Amino acid sequence: MNKNKSFDTRLVHTGSKPKHQKGVINPPVYRASTVIFPTVKAMKDAEKIKFDTTFYGVHGTPTTFALEEAMTEIEGGYRAISLSSGLAAITTALITFLQAGDHLLMVDSVYGPTRNFCNTTLKSFGIETTFYDPLMGNDIQDLIKRETKIIFTESPGSYTFEIQDIPAIVNTAHKHNIKVMIDNTWSAGYYFKPFDHGVDISIQATTKYQAGHADVILGHVIARTKEDWLKLKLTTGTLGQAVAPDVCYLALRGLRTLSVRLEEHQNNALEVANWLSKRPEIETILHPAFTSCPGHEIWQRDFTGSSGLFSVILKDFSNEQVNAMLDHMDYFAMGFSWGGFESLIVPCDPTKIRSATKWNATGPLLRIHVGQEDVEDLIEDLERGLTRLSGKS
Ligand SMILES: Cc1ncc(COP(=O)(O)O)c(C=O)c1O
Repeated sequence: MNKNKSFDTRLVHTGSKPKHQKGVINPPVYRASTVIFPTVKAMKDAEKIKFDTTFYGVHGTPTTFALEEAMTEIEGGYRAISLSSGLAAITTALITFLQAGDHLLMVDSVYGPTRNFCNTTLKSFGIETTFYDPLMGNDIQDLIKRETKIIFTESPGSYTFEIQDIPAIVNTAHKHNIKVMIDNTWSAGYYFKPFDHGVDISIQATTKYQAGHADVILGHVIARTKEDWLKLKLTTGTLGQAVAPDVCYLALRGLRTLSVRLEEHQNNALEVANWLSKRPEIETILHPAFTSCPGHEIWQRDFTGSSGLFSVILKDFSNEQVNAMLDHMDYFAMGFSWGGFESLIVPCDPTKIRSATKWNATGPLLRIHVGQEDVEDLIEDLERGLTRLSGKS
C-alpha cells in the first residue's frame, strides 16, 4: 500500500482543538437544541452564518463540526456534512441535485437500498432512472440524454465488486455538464480519492470503517466545491436532518485508528481470499486485488489498497448445502453492515439486484467481511464450513 504518512498524522490530529477545550484532547460531546446569544445583534449575526457556527442544534454543534473536519481530511474536497446514515447521505445527495423531469444514470451494481430509492421515491417525484453496466467507461456517453443531471457510481459494486472506470465516466459526464457522485464506502476514503479523479460528490457510510466498531449508524456527503456544499447544506437544513453529537463523538474516536485497522483488514482479507482461491469449492474470487475481479486493472491503476470486504462465487452448491455451512460458523457471524472489528458472512442472490446486466454465475455468492480476529482461526472456521458445504464429514 502506498501509505501516506502525513495523511495518517493529519488523521490523528484533525478536528482536535485542545487549546479551546481546557486541554482535553478529544472534542467534548456538545448536546444542544438551544444555543443562546448575549445580544440581538449577536443573534442576527450568527443567523447569517448559521451553517458555519453553533446557531441551533439542528445545524450542528462543535462535535459535529469536528467530525466533518475529519471527514474532509480523509476524503478531500471542500467540506463534509454529517447525516443520520449512509443511506440518508445517498438520498440527500440525490434529491439535492435532481428535480422533476430529470434523468439519473445509476450503476447496476449499486447498494440495494439506493436502487430502491430510485425505483420508489425518485420515480414518484417524476425523476427517471436508467441503470447502467458497471463496466461501462466512456461508452456511458450512449446513455446520456438532454435531461441527465447525475451519474451515480459505486466502486467496487455492492456484493459483486466490479471496479468502475471513474476517470472515464467523469470525463464524459463533465463534457455534458453532468455531476458525478460516488458511494466511496468500500475504500473508506483511504484507498481511493474521488476528488483527485474529478468526482463532484463523494459519499461515505461512516457506519462502516470510520466508526469501525459496529455500534454507530452515520453517513457523510462531501462536496468538491463550496457551491455544491451550500446546496447540500440547504437541503439538510430544509429537511431538518440532524445527527446526535454522541454518535459523532464515537465516529471521531473510531477514525483515529482508521489507518491501522484498515491495514489489518486488508492483510487479513488478502490472506483469507488467497486461501479460498485454492479451495475446490470456490468458482471465483470477487476481490478487487485479484485478477478474477471484473475491473481489477482499474483497481490497480486508481486505488492504493483494499479493505476487508469481498465476495466469492461457490461452485454449484444447493441452498441447503450453503445453509449447512453458514448456520454453524464459529467466528464469521451472519449479519448486515460491515467495517466493524468482526468477521461477517452473508449469502446473496445478485439476480435480484440487477436490471441492466445479466448475472451469469450459476453458483451461490457469499459476501465476506474479514475482521480483526487471528487469521488462522478464521481460515479454520472457513475450512470447517466448506467441509459442511460439500457434505464431507
Ligand atoms: C456500499 C454501501 N453504501 C451505503 C450503505 C448504507 O449505510 P448505512 O447502513 O449507514 O445506511 C451501505 C450499508 O451496508 C453500503 O454497504
